[in-house]
Amino acid sequence: MNVAMRSAGTASGLAYLSGFGNEFASEALAGALPEGQNSPQRVPHGLYAEQFSATAFTVPRRESRRSWLYRIRPSALHGGFRRIEQGALAGALAEPNPNRLRWEPLPIPTAPTDFLAGLSTVSANAAPEAPGGVSVHVYAANRSMLRAFFDADGELLIVPQLGRLMLVTECGRLEVAPGEIAVVPRGMKFRVDLLDGEARGYVAENHGPALRLPDLGPIGANCLANPRDFLSPVAWFEDRSEPTELVQKYLGTLWATTLGHSPFDVVAWHGNAVPYKYDLSRFNTIGSISFDHPDPSIFCVLTAPTPVAGVATLDFVIFPPRWMVAEHTFRPPWFHRNVMSECMGLVKGEYDAKAGGFVPGGMSLHPCMSAHGPDAVSTERAIAAALAPQKLDNTMAFMFETSQVLRPTRFAMQSETLQPDYDSCWNGLARGLPGGAR
Ligand SMILES: [Fe+2]
Repeated sequence: MNVAMRSAGTASGLAYLSGFGNEFASEALAGALPEGQNSPQRVPHGLYAEQFSATAFTVPRRESRRSWLYRIRPSALHGGFRRIEQGALAGALAEPNPNRLRWEPLPIPTAPTDFLAGLSTVSANAAPEAPGGVSVHVYAANRSMLRAFFDADGELLIVPQLGRLMLVTECGRLEVAPGEIAVVPRGMKFRVDLLDGEARGYVAENHGPALRLPDLGPIGANCLANPRDFLSPVAWFEDRSEPTELVQKYLGTLWATTLGHSPFDVVAWHGNAVPYKYDLSRFNTIGSISFDHPDPSIFCVLTAPTPVAGVATLDFVIFPPRWMVAEHTFRPPWFHRNVMSECMGLVKGEYDAKAGGFVPGGMSLHPCMSAHGPDAVSTERAIAAALAPQKLDNTMAFMFETSQVLRPTRFAMQSETLQPDYDSCWNGLARGLPGGAR
């Protein structure tokens, strides 16, 4: 059996992200994986075979994502789901708002709050029943989940900013620290244990086709995020018969049922619809070694396409530590206006376009065609700077970029974390002419 195990809790190499439809396999008990067929009459150890389809059966092979799960009880063994309260998750959108917006970090809650209860939607660009689009959430939590969750509305890209998470999933466990990301397939059951008592971060919920590695074009066969650095879990299960609440997000609403057992009872699996993690420090950054700097698409880690070539439902882009060496060049991100909507967050350090106000855990939203760029202080510094090679260090900003216009939620617009004066960071930009050169 071809099971690659690199370290406890992980297996290596999700090459399917680059479009090869690879199969992966893992078993927590020897002999639990059936050989030669997916659904034999009698599964080893008396397990049940269950197919988990994250794409339609008949998509092209390179798009297909499905796994076979061999479990103690089939997922079908559950009672009815009842609607439950959902706090700020998938709340109503605010009125259209073309303004540039920026938020302070969510405070860590004082009342007991798990990952799911602490998940708040700040913007979205699609109705839950639409075939594509993205919703952006932030989370702040102070206790581990005692329940399980799955999202029928989309794939979840989790970006921790504070506190390590242990994602306990049907396929096994993934420890994810700030500086790493994790992706949970649409519909996969998981829970989040907090390893440091408190946690905060960002989540992009991708309602469209699954995330994958971007094509590299003239860059060639290597660089940016390399496939071998994406890790999936190895099989792990718990055989528990205590009541367990299972919550699902379905068309923007939350529903719960109580199982008589743990849903994390998959003893073996094979396939490619699996959760995975990636350490952002593995990103092989590309940039200019002559003049000017390329568009930020050069920093794309993962992309979720639309049917239009080159247009993404979601691009996940990072701004990691890197050398700046371009000559004759305004080095911060240039002033720009973009047809894509940009939602940015900061995992640690400082972002080179902002001298203050954009702090780790905070977020900004620059909707379609809003004009933005470095603030006044950063601009003056960049124009005056001696252009020696410079290392940007202790930084990890990121962007969720999407082709459909992001609208903030009422929760985000009414939040005390919304900064009232973001526009003022550009005040004081000196005028050009007359007199010209600085
Ligand atoms: Fe931008």
